[in-house]
Amino acid sequence: MIDVAFLGTHVRAAGTAVVIDVLRATSTITLALASGYERVLVAGSIEEASALRTPQRTLAGEVGCAKAPGFDLGNSPQESSQPRTPELVLATTNGAPAVVAAAAVADEVIAASLLNLDAVVAHLAGAGDVLLVCAGTDERVSIEDVYLAGRLSAGLEGPRSDAAQIAEAVAASYASAVEALEASAGAVGLRREGLESDIVFCAQESIFAVVPRLSATLDGVAVLTPAQRAAPAEIAGAGAHIKQ
Ligand code: MLT
Repeated sequence: MIDVAFLGTHVRAAGTAVVIDVLRATSTITLALASGYERVLVAGSIEEASALRTPQRTLAGEVGCAKAPGFDLGNSPQESSQPRTPELVLATTNGAPAVVAAAAVADEVIAASLLNLDAVVAHLAGAGDVLLVCAGTDERVSIEDVYLAGRLSAGLEGPRSDAAQIAEAVAASYASAVEALEASAGAVGLRREGLESDIVFCAQESIFAVVPRLSATLDGVAVLTPAQRAAPAEIAGAGAHIKQ
């Protein structure tokens, strides 16, 4: 069954949970791993992320769309396109907590954005129990996340829940991805901060083949690595860094 959780707080146990925060957390995760960061450590709060700081890590994240105080980078995907360290630590308002929540209950967790749409569809081929988890914006259902959930659902084979059919109908109602993103509350927040270029950037489709996948959960931090490179040695390395 292909199902949709319209808010990150509605995540439940599933074979594969696909976390979606198009604007902007899962777009940033996708770009960071596509650009050469070896791991993205997703923290549930700004405080948890701050406590993970080491010389091997770059801290990225936002509060109210603006760069979190004391962090190296904000949550604009392109800020994470040139790795400074092996690991990126990410804390955001909605997307990062959704990843952490999914990591606690799902057998497999991956991160989806428009940037890796086709790669995620290919990764999910044959998966029987898929939950598309829309992070939402400040506890409210968000257009852009439901839009991508609908696009993903439409690309998959198998029975769909009512929620998945609703998401597909939403996606079909927009002429383009950028139109859906521009209509969202998340876009309003980005324009307020002068970050409107992120909207167009995040609306690009399938420009990366990487699929960020949960490879470890350590002290409540979700460690994401590229699915095709999630080798045991890398996971062990992530654990060693976490304990520093
Ligand atoms: C979030 O996780 O709430 C978002 O990614 C917010 C943003 O940075 O646009």
